[in-house]
Amino acid sequence: MQKKTLADLYTNWNDLVATASSWEGRTLKQLFSEDSNRAARYTVAATGLQFDFSKNHIDEKTLAQLIDAANQADLQGAIKKLMRGDHVNNTENRPALHTSLRFIGAAKTDEQKCVAETLKKMAKLIDSVHSGDWKGHKGDKITDVVNIGIGGSDLGPRMVTKALTPFHTGHVNVHFVANVDGAEIYDLTQKLDPASTLFLIASKSFSTLETLENSLSARKWMLDSGCAQDQLCHHFVAISSKVDKAVEFGIDAENVYPLWDWVGGRYSLWSAIGMPIAFAVGMDNFNKLRHGAAAMDNHFAEAPLEKNIPVLMGLLMFWYSNFLGTDTQAILPYAYHLQLLPAYLQQLEMESNGKSVTKDGVRVDYKTGSIVWGTEGTNGQHSFHQLLHQGTTMVPIDFIATLTAHHPIDHQHKYLFANCVAQSQALMSGRNLETTEAELRASGVSEDDIRKLAEHKVHPGNRPSSTMLMEKLTPETLGALIAAYEHKVYTLGTLWAINSYDQWGVELGKLLGTHIATAIDTTDIPGDWDSSTQTLVRKFNERNKSL
Ligand code: F6P
Repeated sequence: MQKKTLADLYTNWNDLVATASSWEGRTLKQLFSEDSNRAARYTVAATGLQFDFSKNHIDEKTLAQLIDAANQADLQGAIKKLMRGDHVNNTENRPALHTSLRFIGAAKTDEQKCVAETLKKMAKLIDSVHSGDWKGHKGDKITDVVNIGIGGSDLGPRMVTKALTPFHTGHVNVHFVANVDGAEIYDLTQKLDPASTLFLIASKSFSTLETLENSLSARKWMLDSGCAQDQLCHHFVAISSKVDKAVEFGIDAENVYPLWDWVGGRYSLWSAIGMPIAFAVGMDNFNKLRHGAAAMDNHFAEAPLEKNIPVLMGLLMFWYSNFLGTDTQAILPYAYHLQLLPAYLQQLEMESNGKSVTKDGVRVDYKTGSIVWGTEGTNGQHSFHQLLHQGTTMVPIDFIATLTAHHPIDHQHKYLFANCVAQSQALMSGRNLETTEAELRASGVSEDDIRKLAEHKVHPGNRPSSTMLMEKLTPETLGALIAAYEHKVYTLGTLWAINSYDQWGVELGKLLGTHIATAIDTTDIPGDWDSSTQTLVRKFNERNKSL
């Protein structure tokens, strides 16, 4: 079978390969000592973010070759296509117009008009719940809002709601339920009062198993508590592109907030899917989040490629995964409130770019989407950083840090920031055998012990990272940060010639899940299933029959 190679896509592929091998033996430490201006040379500031990518294996020649590749992929043309609504999602024949969700000013396009109308409706709802005008079926004020959704209908709103904790208005408590594991909704509802709880059913397709099952459980919980069927409208609203399905489920038509086919689930937090965010921080802050993203959209559309933050983020990952052999990337926000960012970016990057065929359906002979992982700093330092420093795998890292905190405990923010910078410094500069031995000697360790210990204490260094710095984590800077990652994903999708906006790979598992559930219900296990699957289902059936 014919496979597409990077050499088919890029005339300078051989040059890039040669440049990659020329990097063997060169160290970042050396580059910094040769160029005192390196940090400034490789830092781009825009939209409240400063992207310092100087601790990466790049120099002017490497960058020029990568930009050449971006030009060959017509990245600038691709950005125009994205923003003007061309059908960049070719397998589903539709645009990916998440940038329209954060338009500023008067609505011009049809999409922007739909967004403006929905935002207005959403603002009214938020206001009436916050003010107490919206009442539960017994006349109570709503105290708790529960978002039921999964994937893009959960991860973005959940991450942003947590990230903007300092901006919470305190009018309502916002909760999230995603998992089909009944433990999640059961545990949560134990703590809530049905009379003052509002459920948001968030599902673009309104056909996702987890969301529908959790919604049925929520409805039963309300009915069991004494809420009459015709009073459920006080406790349920829905956000969906399938308004008819939501109504069929029993949501009042006026309580359904639309979403559109031209918004991908994982790009939808700026739409009514972001309602939990607005419930937590108010509409003004929700709009500031949108404005931050809009500023990044402008930057992505207008900045030259070599000064374009999302483009540089994408080019770096292209360089590492396709030329320097990395398989994963770590996202390490040194901000407690950004603790859900890695999980959010896992869906954004891996569901978007985990593909094996080009947009034309030709199998690729090169790596595409890499594995995204990480956690908040400093917690990771006491967990997996050992491997980052001394393991055999190179992992490019994004450190994310803020200059100032929202809390008044300055000495802790100092240590947080100091540790972030120290990690990138240690990973980059390392500590060689000679220095290690000298340090051991200076601290009075015997020559015998130095011989035994020194190699264990060597840090190879030369490990790449970028640092995304912002003054403070605000709705605006967060909006810009998220949009930067969205556009990084599209940059990579363009470089790899794949469609970043479909997700066919999630379908087969879902389908087989329904077959297995049927086999459990009917106890009829098809004999042509593999013996492992048959045995597992049989065990479940036997155990549950005996209960
Ligand atoms: O299973 C993957 C997925 O289809 C995601 O792409 C999507 O964000 C999620 O499920 C939830 O889908 P929906 O909003 O339609 O319930």
